Amino acid sequence: MGFIEEIQRRRTFGIISHPDAGKTTLTEKLLLFGGAIQEAGAVKSNKIKKGAASDFMEIERQRGISVATSVLAFEYKGTKINILDTPGHKDFAEDTFRTLTAVDSVIVVVDVAKGVEEQTEKLVKVCRMRNIPMMVFINKLDREGKDAFGLLDEIEEKLGLSLIPLSWPIGIGADLKGIYNRWEKNINLFSGHKKQAVEKTIEIKDLADTMLDDLIGENYAEELREELDLLEGVYPEYDYDEYLAGNQQPVFFGSALNNFGVRELLDAFIEIAPTPQPKKSEERLVDSKEEKFTGFVFKIHANMDPKHRDRLAFIKIVSGTFKRNTPYLHVRNGKKMKFSSPNAFFADKKEIVDESFPGDIVGLHDTGNFKIGDTLTEGELLHFKGIPAFSPEHFRYVNNADPMKSKQLSKGIDQLMDEGVAQLFTLDLNGRKVIGTVGALQYEVIQYRLEHEYTAKCTYEPIQVHKACWVEAEDEFNNEFKEFKRVKHRYLAKDKRGQLVFLADSPFTIQMTQQKFPTVKLHFTSEWND
Ligand code: G4P
Repeated sequence: MGFIEEIQRRRTFGIISHPDAGKTTLTEKLLLFGGAIQEAGAVKSNKIKKGAASDFMEIERQRGISVATSVLAFEYKGTKINILDTPGHKDFAEDTFRTLTAVDSVIVVVDVAKGVEEQTEKLVKVCRMRNIPMMVFINKLDREGKDAFGLLDEIEEKLGLSLIPLSWPIGIGADLKGIYNRWEKNINLFSGHKKQAVEKTIEIKDLADTMLDDLIGENYAEELREELDLLEGVYPEYDYDEYLAGNQQPVFFGSALNNFGVRELLDAFIEIAPTPQPKKSEERLVDSKEEKFTGFVFKIHANMDPKHRDRLAFIKIVSGTFKRNTPYLHVRNGKKMKFSSPNAFFADKKEIVDESFPGDIVGLHDTGNFKIGDTLTEGELLHFKGIPAFSPEHFRYVNNADPMKSKQLSKGIDQLMDEGVAQLFTLDLNGRKVIGTVGALQYEVIQYRLEHEYTAKCTYEPIQVHKACWVEAEDEFNNEFKEFKRVKHRYLAKDKRGQLVFLADSPFTIQMTQQKFPTVKLHFTSEWND
């Protein structure tokens, strides 16, 4: 197969949802269709169980699963599908944000009874910022839930999406009769629990056909006809370009647990979901079809064995062919590096591969050379954009609890930050280190891992910070900026990249600061031009 065919048959995407909406179940059913697994239950949930905040076995279990399910690749009808796993727990939301920089599209799973939930809202917002093409799967149709029209309104309103239902439910919960597929013009009748992948649909060329009444009963048939009429009036026509531009989102209904409606989703997905997309670098737009290899690190996973401190860096291939044992330029440190055992990931195993193509993810063994966001090329000095840091929600001073181990502590903190476990800010005033996290759970993870992997001990101390604001000065030499730096000296810090950050103690402070220093802009993410 040629290089271009390899690119065109790849689809790299992520599934996002609020915990419990059915992401794991759907992933599993997709793998079943691809023949990548033989039975349900093979995909482990990467959820952290409730009340596990201080259960470190649970954290380690989660880390183990998270490496195993980081990328699930399988083939379906000649298409190579790469699912990038996103952590379900909200404390690891930043991990998910970073993974979203490596996908070409996403599927959003919504629970029909619960509707739009908090985590879905946050994640979809990030996808919208980046114009990522999205499809929506409304799950758990076998349970009583919200009325389909009302639910779609809610999703459009809360998530700011513009939906196009490509399938439509007939009944719901105990009365679920089936789904009508507007995309393929057929009906899939619901017949209870199905463990295996089945494809049994009945073609309905003309909705006026009385066969419809025979299949689902007169009342349901009449209701379906009316609803489909209404759909045509209410929703615009499906438009491929609008979907690709992130302006329109096709919707499918089903029940992942019952393997119902999943085949419809998958078939539409392989037909319309984008092939590996071009990616912006600071220097230029890089097209996937360019022959020279480029890629970037979007995730780093520390080895589970504390005795061997090697890590796995996950690289998304943007362009060209990645080859084993070939020297590539690590742009940030200017070194050429070769990789003798790049890993590719499949549903049930990882394997050393000789060649990988755009859209693929390879796992490279790393002894501390990589940071999230690093670029690899054949020699060109490129820096891929789009892995911003978001302001953490929690902040604490970190102190060394064992003076004999200060080297180990700073090495450990450095490496954990490279992995993206949390963010480090160093205060200008006195060089003290502040760790910022998305959830409180990370503090315990850091403390535990520092001790077990780096033999270092730390303690935390409270600091009153509401948000980290990245500072952009309209003019670095004007008096206003100088005055800002003088007045706010005690609250200024540098992030890991050396960017200036203002640690604001309250929303009020942010507001006052903006008023007083209008030419000094404060941003809640580290990349505001993206
Ligand atoms: P997540 O990864 O998004 O967090 O969700 P997950 O797939 O783990 O699903 C959460 C729960 O919802 C699971 O039940 C799962 O079986 C159930 N579920 C998923 N899809 C459907 C569906 O289509 N219909 C119904 N009725 N339930 C569904 P659980 O009891 O939490 O776990 P388990 O004991 O079944 O594994």
